[in-house]
Amino acid sequence: MGRDADTSAAVTAASRERIVGVSDLTVVHQRRGGGRGERFAAVDGVSLHLDAGEVVSVVGESGSGKTTLAMALTALGAHTSGMVELLGHDLARLSQRQIRALRPEVQVIFQDPHGSLDPRQSVKAGFKELRGLQPQRTSWIDDAGLLAQVRLSPDLLDRYPHQLSGGQAQRVCIARALLMRPRVLVADEPTSGLDVSVQAEVLRLLLELRESTGVAILFISHDLSVVRRISDRVYVMRRGRVIEQGATQAVLDAPQEPYTRQLIAAVPGRTLRTAQVAA
Ligand SMILES: Nc1ncnc2c1ncn2[C@@H]1O[C@H](COP(=O)(O)OP(=O)(O)OP(=O)(O)O)[C@@H](O)[C@H]1O
Ligand SMILES: [Mg+2]
Repeated sequence: MGRDADTSAAVTAASRERIVGVSDLTVVHQRRGGGRGERFAAVDGVSLHLDAGEVVSVVGESGSGKTTLAMALTALGAHTSGMVELLGHDLARLSQRQIRALRPEVQVIFQDPHGSLDPRQSVKAGFKELRGLQPQRTSWIDDAGLLAQVRLSPDLLDRYPHQLSGGQAQRVCIARALLMRPRVLVADEPTSGLDVSVQAEVLRLLLELRESTGVAILFISHDLSVVRRISDRVYVMRRGRVIEQGATQAVLDAPQEPYTRQLIAAVPGRTLRTAQVAA
């Protein structure tokens, strides 16, 4: 981690609000299938930050702790030690009630959009349920306007999840997240289950939403071509630790760690350069 990782962040720190700050975070799990008391750190001393309007990626092989880290900072998962600050609040110091009040600020988008939607609920009924939970927070936009934000036609309001394509279902999930006007979107492999052409559309949509709403995005992926395309900065995780970090282009064009080089070598079409895909 010798790189001057946070140069760009340091430059903008004065002008950008810190949305998420994680320091020395450790999450210990019981080892699956292991004997009683067999515990291990799925996240091990991680520090990370995310400022308003940033897109930051977390990459690493399967099991490196990406989802565990993400859950800790959504205030959904517990953490064992270290500090998670959300919008300036230290989560460990908040009451359950205060945490509940903060939760809408962080919305999560998962890999499998159909799995995230209730199969018995039309798109419209799903929106209605969310509006019932947070009437004031969600009154800023009507259903048709919300679908327009994710480039979907209002005709889809009466559809059920099985009547949506994967790309449409993921847009509905993004719309549901947006309805809460979050400050952070945590996107955990949001395009891994989609066709390549649909992947590109969803990534473009996320970048547009960052521009139009200023939402910060924590993007979790093992696909470095996607990470290169979408993120300003990147953290590389291995076995629960951040082993390399910095501006995306710097890390991916000149990785310092052999592990990062291996991840890059595993990506098909790895010669794709940031400039080529930015359009
Ligand atoms: N609730 C849990 N109880 C026990 N072990 C867990 C739990 N959740 C995750 N783990 C373990 O913690 C480690 C990190 O898991 P995590 O899901 O965070 O990895 P990941 O980087 O998101 O992987 P993937 O790319 O496959 O999604 C893995 O060894 C996993 O088996
Ligand atoms: Mg995961």
